[in-house]
Amino acid sequence: MKCAFITGIEGQDGSYLAELLLGKGYEVHGTYRPSTNGAAINLKPLKSDSQIFKKTLFLYPADLDDADSMRAPMEQSAPDEVYHLASQSHVGQSFEKVEETCRITGMGTLRLLELTRKLSKQPHFFHASSSEIFGSPEQSPQTENAPVLPVTPYGCAKAFGTQLTRIYRETFGMFAVNGILFNHESPRRGENFVTRKICRAVAAIKAGRQTELALGDTSAQRDWGNARDYVRGMWLALQHGEPEDFVFATGKLHRVQDIVELAFKAVGLDWQQYVRQEKQFFRPADPRHVVGNAAKAKTLLGWQPEITFEQTIAEMVSVELKALGA
Ligand code: GDD
Repeated sequence: MKCAFITGIEGQDGSYLAELLLGKGYEVHGTYRPSTNGAAINLKPLKSDSQIFKKTLFLYPADLDDADSMRAPMEQSAPDEVYHLASQSHVGQSFEKVEETCRITGMGTLRLLELTRKLSKQPHFFHASSSEIFGSPEQSPQTENAPVLPVTPYGCAKAFGTQLTRIYRETFGMFAVNGILFNHESPRRGENFVTRKICRAVAAIKAGRQTELALGDTSAQRDWGNARDYVRGMWLALQHGEPEDFVFATGKLHRVQDIVELAFKAVGLDWQQYVRQEKQFFRPADPRHVVGNAAKAKTLLGWQPEITFEQTIAEMVSVELKALGA
């Protein structure tokens, strides 16, 4: 039985990855932020399954800011694969919490690389890097070799972790891999990310519980994929014969406005009556032209996205409506 260690197991990606690995017969160990008490909703189905919880799935409170809290669960579980997903992952908040973001997202990755390097059995290591490391690139679409020129504190912290992952691979000989993940969504997305924020609001407006939706820049564009496709990519990256970095992306750009129109259309409402833009949701800097070229992942891993942008938004609206009983 293979053993995996996942930081940030309660998040969108962590919970889908845990399900994928458990389905493949792995034993899964994961850390969650002590402040959540392990109560996050994404793991509920797994935690309520008595065949799984504490049999093949083990959870630990641990803080990336505190290497000691990570050390014991890592040493005890002696993993074959480490998936480092935890971070302060909200780009907008990174402008207000610059130091915290760099500590958790940047230094946290260094701490984990160092802990992994010292394990007696060397696991394969996956770092969840981000398209934010590219900033607003001059050339599109971006491959693994695009210049690293972040324009946000979060992107800068991720760039630090990404370059260190490369250094640990090339200098210390670790099987360390960056998955350069472009935006990826699902009903498990955090509520303050734009796809979930819109889908939640649309359902609440439809149910008569909300009257308007305030957004930032609705002309902003992103390459939005589906989280389930991307966690499959993470696993494939660690099964590959050589440690290499991979871009995971759809290669298609959409606007925030496209999400608005799709989501309101799904519930038969006219978005123009409800949506307004508000200064507080605009960012001091926001990457442009960020769209990925995942040809390398396709060729070497046989990976490609299977779930479309339209299917993802439709599913997210539908789950929000059900949650409200609407
Ligand atoms: N969150 C948010 N809220 N974003 C808004 C809003 C709003 O009200 N209005 C417009 N936007 C725009 C943002 O300015 C950005 O251009 C875009 O919507 C997407 O914002 P987010 O959903 O917050 O995601 P992100 O692109 O900043 O970052 C996500 O993707 C990265 C790349 O995969 C995060 O998941 C990062 O952690 C990840 O690395």
